[in-house]
Amino acid sequence: MLTREDNELLTQTGPGTPMGDLFRRFWQPVLLAEELPEPDCPPVRIKVLSEQMVAFRDTNNEIGVIDNFCPHRRASLFFGRNEESGLRCVYHGWKYDVNGECVDMPSEPAESNFKDKVKIKSYPAREWGGCIWIYMGPIEQMPGLPQFEWCMVPASHRNVRRWIQESNYMQATEGEIDTSHVSFNHRWFDLSKAPRQNIGRRLKNGAALTNLDGAPQLTVKETDYGFIYGSRRRVDVDEYYWRVTQFVLPFYSFIPNPGEREGGRCWVPMDDTHISVFQYSVSTGEAYTEEQRAMMNISPENLQRVMYQFDDGSYVDTWRPQRQMENDFLIDRDMQRTINYTGIGSGREQDMAMTDSMGAIADRTREHLGTSDTAIIAGRRILLRLARELQEGVEPYAPSHPEVFGVRAIDVVDSQADFFKLLQEKGELGKSKATMPA
Ligand code: FES
Ligand SMILES: [Fe+2]
Repeated sequence: MLTREDNELLTQTGPGTPMGDLFRRFWQPVLLAEELPEPDCPPVRIKVLSEQMVAFRDTNNEIGVIDNFCPHRRASLFFGRNEESGLRCVYHGWKYDVNGECVDMPSEPAESNFKDKVKIKSYPAREWGGCIWIYMGPIEQMPGLPQFEWCMVPASHRNVRRWIQESNYMQATEGEIDTSHVSFNHRWFDLSKAPRQNIGRRLKNGAALTNLDGAPQLTVKETDYGFIYGSRRRVDVDEYYWRVTQFVLPFYSFIPNPGEREGGRCWVPMDDTHISVFQYSVSTGEAYTEEQRAMMNISPENLQRVMYQFDDGSYVDTWRPQRQMENDFLIDRDMQRTINYTGIGSGREQDMAMTDSMGAIADRTREHLGTSDTAIIAGRRILLRLARELQEGVEPYAPSHPEVFGVRAIDVVDSQADFFKLLQEKGELGKSKATMPA
């Protein structure tokens, strides 16, 4: 449970909010690179931390992210002409480059120097790991790009998708550090009917290991990039299933996925009630095959490219899953009786149904946390502390140390009742690219 004040501090990320200030110290992904496929292609509308912007790729392949609103009389630059190294407003022809300089003002006399006095808000933008990233913080604090493993491999070894989700970022992030729900929310009674992606979890005698113990024991260790936690499920006499999950500041997860991939998701606030979700996977071996990509992209199913309208009348261009609150996530009650726990067909939508159903911003003053919520409590505590510290002038460590982002998750079946402690003793916890000890 949180106080109302802490819940607001945790969930509000707009300009001038303490959590918004903290998030602005980090580079954040805002688009897939393919959404700006070539120089001078059409601009794309985005919203990040409650700021409306337009992203474009100029003639020289530089990425620009500038205010949606033209500083002349506030027309949207989404309608602009992307030409000759700049985005030109089609109302009166004022033109801006990727740095926000006004480089042409044809509606004013040629001898006027007015254009030299006009600038549009712009943020540094980079292409990295198949995505477009922006930095919205003080320019003198701008760090290097985070060295996530999925960003540093060739495109052949990476899979990234993006979609909009309709809740505050934090309740979705909390779903990532909540191992206990896997035993219920993602349970299939009849594994033969589950999409292949959902039975990636290890099996014992035909049952998913996560089904065998619904009350995992959690151990959390804070690190310089966030925290790592181990969850222990008893799956047999003297045999445990350990899942070791990473929470990377300010909103990234790395979830153990036995077999083909390493990966997780991040939850970039568009505003306080909408998220731009990025789901990333990295192959640590061979390049992905088309079949593997198809399997990874099962969920969410049927993403559609949409022009999404917010209550305030603003728009973004994004993908949106077919299953939504407005259609009850297409719940199938027969399926719920006999095939899986939720009656909802695939993993991401099972999560989404739960976190969207909490309301746009979960009321944490009315919840009842148990021992299985230990990692969620840790995540909140760290974010609240860092946001408060920043207000007192203490800069967060992680964003200015891009090398700390290169971490992996682990899962293992082991007789060690204290596997997490073993990892810690071997110095593998909190270390970049943590791997299983031999
Ligand atoms: S509103 Fe953009 S040039 Fe006039
Ligand atoms: Fe989940």
